Amino acid sequence: MENGKFIVFEGLDGTGKSTQLSLLAQALRQMGHTVFTDAEPSSLPTGRFLRRRLAGEFSGSPWADAALFLADRINQNVDPENGILKHLRQGDAVILDRYYYSTFAYQGCGTDMDWAMDMHFGCPEIARPDLTLFLTMEPEKCIARIRANRKAEELEIFETAETLSAVADQFGRVFDALRDQDNIVYINADGTIQQVHERILAAVLPLFGKE
Ligand code: TYD
Repeated sequence: MENGKFIVFEGLDGTGKSTQLSLLAQALRQMGHTVFTDAEPSSLPTGRFLRRRLAGEFSGSPWADAALFLADRINQNVDPENGILKHLRQGDAVILDRYYYSTFAYQGCGTDMDWAMDMHFGCPEIARPDLTLFLTMEPEKCIARIRANRKAEELEIFETAETLSAVADQFGRVFDALRDQDNIVYINADGTIQQVHERILAAVLPLFGKE
């Protein structure tokens, strides 16, 4: 059987990735595809540990964070029950909320992006996406959206305007560096949910032989 298609959503916190991911999964299911969706950090023990770190429960080094995200990503690929590799082998469409680009952007700021890339691309247990949708929006608008949806004490460690601006610049460098290697499509995330969904469908359908 042919391998399933692997689609990744990327972008700053507040760009609407999870809403758009659900809508895309629904659309593909309606077209008859079997779809597996997941998010990073994973729901595995490594991912649960990262959630505690993101909530600021303990301090850490960006180098260690990069290595922890890498370990969680490998586990999420090879998990025998619900791993990305297993679903791709079954021919399912796999859609993920965040992937290695997030480590290059968020941890790349405080470490060395090339070091993070070498660790990932040297690892045979990390699948390469068929399509990466990069949802773009001004960092100030992202923060406004996050604040509207959450209480101040629930904000995660990267959810400040200064950090998100630095991460936005770093995302630019990451996608520039990977331009010729990965299939990356920029999606303007500033619009109504339906408008953004249609922009996403236009980018995704060719992958399934449809226009
Ligand atoms: P996410 O689940 O998308 O945020 P939320 O559920 O709060 O909307 O991501 C959690 C945070 O983890 C986000 O601020 C980005 C950060 N992150 C990294 O720093 N590196 C990574 O490799 C990943 C996957 C996420």
